[in-house]
Amino acid sequence: MKDHPFLRACKREPTPYTPIWLMRQAGRYQKEYRALRRRYSFLEMCKTPELAARVTLLPVEQLKVDAAIIFSDILIPLEPMGIELEFAANEGPVFRHPIREMEQIKCLRVFEPEEEISFLMEAIRMVRKELEGKIPLIGFSGAPFTLASYVIEGGHSKNYVLTKGMMYQNRPAWEGLMNRLSDVLIRYLNSQIRAGAQAVQIFDSWVGCLSPQDYEEYVFPYSKKVMDGVDKGVPVIHFATSSSTLLEGMKRAGGDVIGVDWRVDLGEAWARLGYGVAIQGNLDPVVLLGPEELIEREARRILDRAESRPGHIFNLGHGILPNTPVDHVARLIDTVHGYSSKQKTSNPERKDA
Ligand code: CP3
Repeated sequence: MKDHPFLRACKREPTPYTPIWLMRQAGRYQKEYRALRRRYSFLEMCKTPELAARVTLLPVEQLKVDAAIIFSDILIPLEPMGIELEFAANEGPVFRHPIREMEQIKCLRVFEPEEEISFLMEAIRMVRKELEGKIPLIGFSGAPFTLASYVIEGGHSKNYVLTKGMMYQNRPAWEGLMNRLSDVLIRYLNSQIRAGAQAVQIFDSWVGCLSPQDYEEYVFPYSKKVMDGVDKGVPVIHFATSSSTLLEGMKRAGGDVIGVDWRVDLGEAWARLGYGVAIQGNLDPVVLLGPEELIEREARRILDRAESRPGHIFNLGHGILPNTPVDHVARLIDTVHGYSSKQKTSNPERKDA
């Protein structure tokens, strides 16, 4: 399995073709997923190992993806910390009791994930058994900033006024919350690795709302603490959106692979990061709505920007949209595999990596 193209690409080793997986590859764009969702709530699906394992395997059975990602959510570790979570219909995640005061932060629990999130570890073990010898399994977590923004705002936010408010106006509370989250995330990721995750992705989805100076001062130390605390031996993917001004900082915080969205040119982003780190991305998920010629053209353009360098993992710049046609996803995967294998034979792997 160490020789699988996805794991080799994470380590910047040459591969016969560019590996591809897709953020949110299990989800509402699949009719099998929608059918299950009519019977179970989203959290029920996350918390029942058999269901989480089954949903994880849906895209593996339907599509030629080069990695699976365990079906769960970045918000799952917040409940055992003592933060009540709800997924309201058409509202997304909601925290009825947002965390805004030092008194609340002091009560947040650092817990043992193997015991209190055993459903996830069990799902990972089940999926690994099913996948043996096929493709690697990715575990994941949110990054401290993105999780802090959810619990402070009480849900998704537009301007992050309360999050930045705590950052700027109540430094002890900010540090307390970010430290508590970092300690939880290190344990959470290492438990997933012990259960069998062969790579982990850390989603800092909303950190792009910060200036580079604020990233450096208020986020970098905690993201670095998490990256440093993850068991060595499995590759770490460090992902954010709208992060073009933060790339250098994200790289210093850590990660074997940096995930970028479509707002940056992949070639320019990689040149700035340097070829000592792998890169993941970066098709706009809206392109998958079609037409198919556009999907092929955009996939080839991104592969051209990667110049056949070892260390590119093809992905979307953010999660698949619910109205994406499954056959468009299949077409993307075929294009990436086909075009990149031709590229690699006509233009042997570059040596400057
Ligand atoms: O990638 C995968 O296939 C693995 C599963 C996965 C989910 N969420 C399943 C999910 C992963 C990796 C996540 C990460 C996640 N969750 C992030 C980071 C990635 C990103 O999108 O930026 C964030 C911010 C969340 C929080 C979250 N979970 C939101 C904002 C929502 C509601 C938005 C929506 O699409 O409905 C969720 C729910 C969620 N997480 C769904 C899925 C499949 C939809 C639930 C449903 O209604 O069936």
